[in-house]
Amino acid sequence: MLELREVSTRYGPITVLRSVSLAVGAGQLACLLGPNGAGKTTLIRTILGIVRPVSGSIWLDGARIDRLRPHQIVARGVAVVPEGRRLFPKMTVEENLRMGAFIEWAPADFAARRDHVFSLFPRLAERRRQSAATMSGGEQAMLAMGRALMSRPRLLLLDEPSLGLAPVLVEQLFAMVQAINQSGTTVFLVEQNARKTLEIAHHGFLLQKGEVVGAGSAESLRRSELVRHAYLRT
Ligand SMILES: Nc1ncnc2c1ncn2[C@@H]1O[C@H](COP(=O)(O)OP(=O)(O)O)[C@@H](O)[C@H]1O
Ligand SMILES: [Mg+2]
Repeated sequence: MLELREVSTRYGPITVLRSVSLAVGAGQLACLLGPNGAGKTTLIRTILGIVRPVSGSIWLDGARIDRLRPHQIVARGVAVVPEGRRLFPKMTVEENLRMGAFIEWAPADFAARRDHVFSLFPRLAERRRQSAATMSGGEQAMLAMGRALMSRPRLLLLDEPSLGLAPVLVEQLFAMVQAINQSGTTVFLVEQNARKTLEIAHHGFLLQKGEVVGAGSAESLRRSELVRHAYLRT
């Protein structure tokens, strides 16, 4: 479904992604692991067309997307839970969900989409009139995911959704990510929490200093010395 072929991205003179190649098949739950500063967020931004790669190509369902604008890529069925969630703090839960439903037009079935999200996250329904800023960290994480789901994505990109959450909330969040994947959405999960991530991912990639230095099944990554050494010490 998603393929990056030798993608390099720079910010000015600084090369952040170096010839990154990876692929995620339809229906898969794939992960990207890597330390702070490895280029994970840049990779997400490159897939979304927010930054343009200087070389290489990106493919979605066999069509090249690396020359498209972000809204065109979103319209093809890609949604994101961005790093830091980026909720609209003064808007209510319901208004945040409404923002997620604007793709190129506001869908007539907003209420049905919202109710589906409320069925996944009953807590959001209870708090629909509350402003996003006053929600707890865990609730904000749910809202960011609910907002992304409002566009009914086929491919969901998640950039460190567990950051700052207590372990019990990380557990719940990852269970939701797994459930969303099992209901048919392809998931690309960017995380530093390797242990938890490899429990739910089918396969993954390891990014260090902008380069893919490891790739394989979740099982093989769990056994890999590189991953064990860098991430699974605790
Ligand atoms: N807008 C930007 N302009 C210049 N450098 C950036 C920008 N965003 C990120 N970087 C740099 O790119 C590198 C990778 O950052 P990032 O993609 O955010 O990594 P990660 O998400 O893995 O922590 C870092 O060295 C960071 O300082
Ligand atoms: Mg990041």
